[in-house]
Amino acid sequence: MTATDSPVAAPTTNGSQRRGFGVDVGGSGIKGGIVDLETGALIGERVKLPTPQPATPEAVARTVAAVVREFGWTEPLGVTYPGVVVDGVVRTAANVDKSWLGVNAKEVFESHLDGQQVTVLNDADAAGLAEERFGAGRDRTGVIVLLTFGTGIGSAVIHNGVLLPNTEFGHIEVGGKEAEHRAASSVKEKKGWSYQRWTEEVTKVLVAIENAIWPDLFIVGGGISRKADKWVPLLKNRTPVVAATLRNTAGIVGAAMAAVEGITAANVTATHQ
Ligand code: BGC
Repeated sequence: MTATDSPVAAPTTNGSQRRGFGVDVGGSGIKGGIVDLETGALIGERVKLPTPQPATPEAVARTVAAVVREFGWTEPLGVTYPGVVVDGVVRTAANVDKSWLGVNAKEVFESHLDGQQVTVLNDADAAGLAEERFGAGRDRTGVIVLLTFGTGIGSAVIHNGVLLPNTEFGHIEVGGKEAEHRAASSVKEKKGWSYQRWTEEVTKVLVAIENAIWPDLFIVGGGISRKADKWVPLLKNRTPVVAATLRNTAGIVGAAMAAVEGITAANVTATHQ
């Protein structure tokens, strides 16, 4: 099994309270790493293995276990999933293999590991936790909405450090169409739209959300946020919008936070330090 990132300089001390381990399950890669929970930085490199196809629960769990073993990590860990997860059980599978529906992902992941506890949470919720504490939201208070733009649209709502889990703003109807079918970055690609054209659709989605919950700040993430300077200034909604800053580590960091701090859909305890 080969890691596609640079080789891991795996630190051997993993029992420290302020370290965690997160795995981010994406459509093309399954990425994991050890996280310094004081700073939100990765300790050593991350490891990325290709997402198996088809990405069934068993196949993904085997790959997650392979990532974890690259580090010799034996403590509790967090794993993201790109859909609704309640008490470890998958409830939606919009852009992933439908065999996930109803699966107790926590149990499946744990059965492939060596007895450590796994916390499973939505991918955008994980990114939101990380961005709010260590990234674009770190000096902000109030209601923060993080949106990830990719194949679909993911969302996280955080109020003064506390996550409201499993919001699914990518699936609200905006002008007769699901938000993610209107404004995901995959739609921009498929239609060959310019940033100008695409941001018209993103603006509609942001306006629908801000009219419903009046956030203080939007953080926009996903691969396309790397080019945020090309499109964030074109948005016409009223709430300030900033780009995510943690880039491709946000999911890993948020998953590690959730595992150590006990943040699950049923037990939300994230607070500012
Ligand atoms: C899912 C969300 C997920 C997002 C990004 C959406 O289709 O419903 O739960 O966060 O995609 O992966």
